[in-house]
Amino acid sequence: MTQDTPPAGVRDILITAALPYANGSIHLGHMLEYVQTDIWARFQRMRGNRTTWVWADDAHGTPIMLSAQKAGIEPQQLIDAMKAEHEKDFVDFQLSFDNFHTTHSDENRHFAELIYSRLQDAGHISVREIEQLYDPEANMFLPARFVRGTCPRCKAEDQDSDACENCSSTYDATELLNPRSVISGATPVKKMSEQYFFKLGNFEPMLREWTTGEQLQPEISNKLKEWFEGGLMDWDISRNEPYWGFEIPGAPGKYFYVWLDAPIGYIASHKNLLGDDEDEFNRHWQAGADTELVHFIGKDIAYFHTLFWPAVLEGAGFRKPTQVHCHGFLTVNGQKMSKSRGTFIKARTYLDHLPPEYIRYYFAAKLNARVEDIDLNLEDFVARVNSDLVGKVVNIASRCAGFITSKFDHQLADGLPDNELFNDSATAGDSIASAFEKREYSRAIREIIALADSANQYIAENAPWTLAKTPGNEQQVQEICTLGINVFRNLMIYLKPVIPEITEKSETFLNCGPLSWSDAAHPLISHRIEKFKPLIKRIESETIDAIVEASKEDLQKEQAVVEGPLADDPISEEISFDDFAKIDLRVATIEAAEHVKGADKLLQLTLDLGGEKRNVFAGIKSAYDPATLVGRQTVMVANLAPRKMRFGMSEGMVLAAGPGGSDLFILSPDNGAAAGMRVK
Ligand code: MSP
Ligand code: ZN
Repeated sequence: MTQDTPPAGVRDILITAALPYANGSIHLGHMLEYVQTDIWARFQRMRGNRTTWVWADDAHGTPIMLSAQKAGIEPQQLIDAMKAEHEKDFVDFQLSFDNFHTTHSDENRHFAELIYSRLQDAGHISVREIEQLYDPEANMFLPARFVRGTCPRCKAEDQDSDACENCSSTYDATELLNPRSVISGATPVKKMSEQYFFKLGNFEPMLREWTTGEQLQPEISNKLKEWFEGGLMDWDISRNEPYWGFEIPGAPGKYFYVWLDAPIGYIASHKNLLGDDEDEFNRHWQAGADTELVHFIGKDIAYFHTLFWPAVLEGAGFRKPTQVHCHGFLTVNGQKMSKSRGTFIKARTYLDHLPPEYIRYYFAAKLNARVEDIDLNLEDFVARVNSDLVGKVVNIASRCAGFITSKFDHQLADGLPDNELFNDSATAGDSIASAFEKREYSRAIREIIALADSANQYIAENAPWTLAKTPGNEQQVQEICTLGINVFRNLMIYLKPVIPEITEKSETFLNCGPLSWSDAAHPLISHRIEKFKPLIKRIESETIDAIVEASKEDLQKEQAVVEGPLADDPISEEISFDDFAKIDLRVATIEAAEHVKGADKLLQLTLDLGGEKRNVFAGIKSAYDPATLVGRQTVMVANLAPRKMRFGMSEGMVLAAGPGGSDLFILSPDNGAAAGMRVK
């Protein structure tokens, strides 16, 4: 189906959010960005603008290749499974995207190749040999994050390949002292290989101008000045095999670096959505297009979107973004999200306990157009949602609706009382809209809640419940409640981009069809409403505790996956007999065995090593009833360093065999060996 140009005055906006990597689950940090994007998209649609949101999974790169290897599956299987998981999270968070594609697609290969060939034809690609670190055991060149070593400046150990956490100096991976491969542990060697570069410097004049324009926030423009001062370097867009991505045409064994084809994924996803509609595609992507292209991204990837991306687009004859909107990072309780504190909260873990509206509202109440970090304070989250959404906004409807249904047969009054309240709520629409437009969501929410405060105050002052006791006040009561419900309706209009499902339920209650922004100017009068049903429940603080606990549990499951046996796990590096002799295997008697409160997989064992007692947590709950274990014997690693777990210290490990589930065997059939006996 082809689309016509929208009528004059209607904006045509293509929106993207950053493409999540396909090797991990979505967490609340991602959701901050995706909720920010969704609110803007929904707002634009409500304003009557033609709005399309396309994005995808970012499915290429070394980490994905290695994750798949580790799990013993093909990369394709991994990215398919992740895409399904991501998409489900997004739908359940009520994100209103039009297409979620993958960068490992035919469309993306086509556009990556097209863009590359155009850049090459225009003289923007150069080829030269460079020296890089190579892992002689894994037989591969090592990407940045896969080499660690001693800082060449301050000599701090175990630092990243490009920057030192201790002294903040930056350097080239080849300068690291005592480098070692994160993949195999081997000492990398330096090796020359041919690489393909994008000549970013060719675009310096364009970029100098473009990066100071309206398309970027001032903080980002300022930050970019540093890059210009340092000179724009060529960008290495190729990687050597083995690599998971697209092979570069005419360059066997060389692949496009994931960051070359990732943003091209925006174009590819749009193409995938449009099918054969060439006109619509060109209206959005050809050079000089007058439609809008708006990217939402996090501050960590600003560099890719504000230098390389516009230069690549320009060099290949495509339009440049209208806006690159950059947000800060999510912290939880004032700190970086942490797995051990249970604040690294996955989108799914959140959804298992709470509906999306609450956090969508909280994010909106905190987001603004600056690049600053946003804190999710869990106590404040509970307080804010309960006080604003439940206590203020929904309260207006629940206070007024009962009278209308019971006393006036569901009928709103024929007119509003002589009062400024409705007009105030209608005229506030312009200012609230301008706040949403500029991504000043926190200001929009403040203005909305101020209106809710006025409405609650009005209702309290006029106390319809008192008036209703005296006959003769019927009309007044009906009008007061009609006003309250109309202000509530306007608040729901303004909150629709933020809490779409609550608004939808309100539309049913108001019996009014889908609300759009311009409806706020016209009150509902002489109109029948439905019986009011509670729209939202208070959050209990126990729910938050449960989310935090479950996030610690998530961590444990992850550890179990990493540590558990994998059918296709390659045999680890060979060890010497001396290494083996270091493992002190002992027969131990199980003196006590108990369930561990809050743990899915673990049993707590007290092991007797012939005098010495050990506390060990073992992941064998699926196979054993603790009562049947007491008095029996097992083999344990007695000299494993103690490990602190959420439930306490584990002082050793028991050895088990079996396919898993209920078939896990750790025991001798009888008491044949003396406790404490060495096994070898
Ligand atoms: N795959 C790249 C983006 C390619 S876009 C062509 C990537 N993926 S990511 O999964 O690491 O991040 C996706 C988005 O989520 C990025 O914009 C990133 O900034 C954002 N966030 C990831 N963690 C975040 C927080 N803790 N807080 C806020 N945003 C976060 O980068
Ligand atoms: Zn250092």
